[in-house]
Amino acid sequence: MEELKNLHIEKRDEILIVTIQREPALNALNRETLDELDTVFSEIDDDPSIKGVILTGAGEKAFVAGADIKEFSQVNEVNGRSMAERGQELFEKIERLSKPVIAAVNGFALGGGCELAMACHIRIAVKTAKFGQPEINLGIIPGYGGTQRMTRLVGKGKAIELLLTADMIDAEEAYRLRLVNYVCESKDSMMDKALEILNKIKEKAPIAVGLIIDSINAVHTSGENGYQTEANAFSKCCGTQDFKEGTQAFLEKRKPNFIGE
Ligand code: COA
Repeated sequence: MEELKNLHIEKRDEILIVTIQREPALNALNRETLDELDTVFSEIDDDPSIKGVILTGAGEKAFVAGADIKEFSQVNEVNGRSMAERGQELFEKIERLSKPVIAAVNGFALGGGCELAMACHIRIAVKTAKFGQPEINLGIIPGYGGTQRMTRLVGKGKAIELLLTADMIDAEEAYRLRLVNYVCESKDSMMDKALEILNKIKEKAPIAVGLIIDSINAVHTSGENGYQTEANAFSKCCGTQDFKEGTQAFLEKRKPNFIGE
């Protein structure tokens, strides 16, 4: 992997911990950080030694405080479209990863930061975290999928309220709205919770893990018939070694040993 300036990468057992580290700018997403995220996330699917990913922000204050406002303040109608499409493409890559990605939200998740967390498969937050889509205060709208993913996660009425008022919500409110799965006391306990979830998933059959993510994502993809996707995925699982192993292990009353084939 090429040298990364804005990300810190650590592998703990088979879990990759990706930390966005631009603390002086509250980990805001500039172009270089987006490129580095793209590089890292492009390599994960093909790396069998990685079973799951935790995405978090450096420090105690911010997960990601949005797209880098200094950088995009000069954007116009033409390059604004490519900026949105660039972000959407990357966030879709994360959402479509065949391995679980947990956003561990350690502080402000605003604008593009909230959108990035929503593109992850699961979100957990420290109790001091704050979520919001304040783009309207800048005279723009969320452009990295926020109008779509927020609506799916919290429902249309609440999404419209949050995006039009730019109100920030705390972690407990995010939990009530089902934007996050768990609220943790501290950054350390949040990381422990994320690792606990991923360590549980890494024992499962990898092909089935990927196909569950794929089938659930199908709900959100226009033009795709989710039931069809599910049936195709189910049939694919039935042809795997791991399916044979899983059923055999059950019958022999032992723990299955999945190999991802
Ligand atoms: N892009 C670029 N820089 C950002 C940033 C962003 N999205 N968010 C924060 N920063 C920078 C600030 O400019 C400041 O830099 P400086 O020290 O060089 O002046 C530094 O991070 C600290 O931010 P500051 O505003 O001083 O901290 P705060 O505690 O007073 O407020 C926030 C924290 C998150 C409420 C506030 O920074 C904020 O509203 N940020 C913008 C959020 C936003 O609108 N995001 C959506 C963008 S589309």
